[in-house]
Parts: sequence; structure tokens; C-alpha cells
Amino acid sequence: MSEQFDISVDFVGLKLANPVFTASGTCGYADELADFMDINQLGGFITKSITAKPRKGHATPRIVETDAGMLNAIGLANVGLDKFIEEKLPIIEKMTVPVFVNVAGETVAEYAAVIERLAKESAIAGFELNISCPNVERGGITFGTDPAQVTEITSAVKKAVGDKVLMVKLSPTVTDISIIARAAVEAGADALSMINTFTAMVIDIETRKPVLANKTGGLSGPAIKPIAVYLVNKVYKEVTKNHRIPILGMGGIRTASDAIEFIIAGASAIAVGTASFIEPGCAIKIIEGIKKYCVRHNISNIKELVGSLTL
Ligand SMILES: Cc1cc2nc3c(=O)[nH]c(=O)nc-3n(C[C@H](O)[C@H](O)[C@H](O)COP(=O)(O)O)c2cc1C
Repeated sequence: MSEQFDISVDFVGLKLANPVFTASGTCGYADELADFMDINQLGGFITKSITAKPRKGHATPRIVETDAGMLNAIGLANVGLDKFIEEKLPIIEKMTVPVFVNVAGETVAEYAAVIERLAKESAIAGFELNISCPNVERGGITFGTDPAQVTEITSAVKKAVGDKVLMVKLSPTVTDISIIARAAVEAGADALSMINTFTAMVIDIETRKPVLANKTGGLSGPAIKPIAVYLVNKVYKEVTKNHRIPILGMGGIRTASDAIEFIIAGASAIAVGTASFIEPGCAIKIIEGIKKYCVRHNISNIKELVGSLTL
């Protein structure tokens, strides 16, 4: 690509080579997809959610395919903070791509403690606060649906992040997502990521029982894309544009065209989630496709495209 077309992104002071991330929970801790793509070619990498203590997650079945996506109720299964530091951090230390650690928890104090411990690590560029997981009983989405709790958790964590980037991940399962976005931004979020999955259910009509052991799960994949694009545009117009806060957009992105839709809607960068299960290297193809789009439309800097929706 000619130097004339710049797809690098300034993301809260971090210089990203391109606007493409992989989404939390869909690429493990970086090593899982190493056979399928060179992770360091991405703009950014986000780990699976980490909690203070290890979690086994929900009973199986915990995923089910749907017409245009999938439901998951993994239940935040993860190795816990100590093992993450011992086993996963050394992998992250070798990566050249900026890595965000996604953090979840049951109490504000748990989130703050995990972040305080990890904020000392120079290999970590920032954090994604998962206050939007629909699949856990305590914590998870309950933090992200109440503006007062969003304010409380964001400001508590902001004190713990030091000079790292704090990104807050929003749930779409709310009446007005801009109210939640504004609460996060006013409490100190440096960036917003959106969206997490929609609470949903698939029923086995023979047994008349839900297919997932957890009964409900989070819907992701192409089915949610137009709603995600709409919500990104709504938050961009109503909240982040004035505050100059970047949005990391996600929800059903499978191709470069999908990614460009999110950028035009107002996302400064995008993340690929469910699509990686179908085609593990597709994030890299999306980077190539974005470059080609910029050349074809003579867009010399990808910034020009952000929020360029014509109404
Ligand atoms: C199997 C699976 C596991 C996920 N795990 C997490 C997680 O641990 N933390 C989190 O914040 N989001 C998690 N997500 C949500 C994704 O990061 C993303 O927000 C959502 O799936 C929408 O993007 P997509 O349609 O491209 O998958 C998970 C999604 C899937 C499909």
C-alpha cells in the first residue's frame, strides 16, 4: 500500500497500526489463534475476561448456533488472576501489538483489585471493563445497566489504572445506551467498546427445554450487526463526538465492508468476534480490505471516515 493511505489509528495516545482488534473471549489469551494468523499484525488484541479467582464457567452445552450467529453462556470461565500472571503474561510480553486485558468481577472492589495488580505491567496497554456480560448471576450486566453503578465502578477503576487506557464495554440490553455511555465517559472512561451480546434463548421443541444449560445466553454474530451499527452511531452522535472519546465498535463484523460500516457510523476502531470461529484468520483479511477501500475512495487517512455518515 502506498504511504499516501494511512490506516493507523491514534487510540487514546496509543499508535495502532490499523483499526482492527479481536474481540474478548473469541481469541483466548493470544496463543490460541497463533496458528491461524500473525496476531502482531492486528491493531490491538483483547484478552478473554479475567476475574480475581479462577472460574469454571457454566455447565455444557454452553454454545449453540442460531440462524445468523450463535448464543454463548460460557459464564466467564477463566484461569484467574494468579495463573494469568504466571502463564499468560509471558506470552503477552512477547507480543508487539497493544494488548488490552478484559476484566470482569462480582464487586467493584474485585474489579479495582485486579486492575491495580495488572496496571504495573508494562506489557499491558490498557483494560476493557466488562460490565456487560449477560451470562453471570452476580456482577456482569447488572453493573452495566444502571448509570449510578456505571459511575461508581468506572471512577473506582479509573483510580487503579494509572497511565493505562480504560475502555468500558457497554451492553446493548438497556433502554437508552447513551445514558450508560455518558455515565462511563463522565466518570473517566478513555474509550468505549460496544457492543456486548444480547440476552437470548433457543428452545428444543422436543424436550421443551432451553438448549443451553444456563437457559439463556448472549447472541452474537451477523444477526446483531445492524443493531450494533445503529447503537454505535447513536452513542457517537449523542456522547462521544463532543467528548472526543473513541469507540471500539463490534457486533457481527465478518468482512471489511462490515468494518467500514461501523467506522462510518462513528467507531474509531473495530473488533472481530464470532467471525473468527468460522474463519480464524479473517481479522487480517479485514485489514487488507480496509486498505483497499481507502485506496479506492482516495481516503488518505482513515480518520476522515470516522463518523462520516451522510444523512
Ligand atoms: C464465545 C464467546 C465468548 C465471549 N466472551 C467474552 C468475554 O469473556 N468478555 C467479554 O467482554 N465479551 C465476551 N464476548 C463478547 C464479544 O467480545 C463481543 O462483544 C460480541 O460477541 C459481539 O461481537 P461479535 O458479534 O463479532 O462476536 C464473547 C463472545 C463469544 C461469542
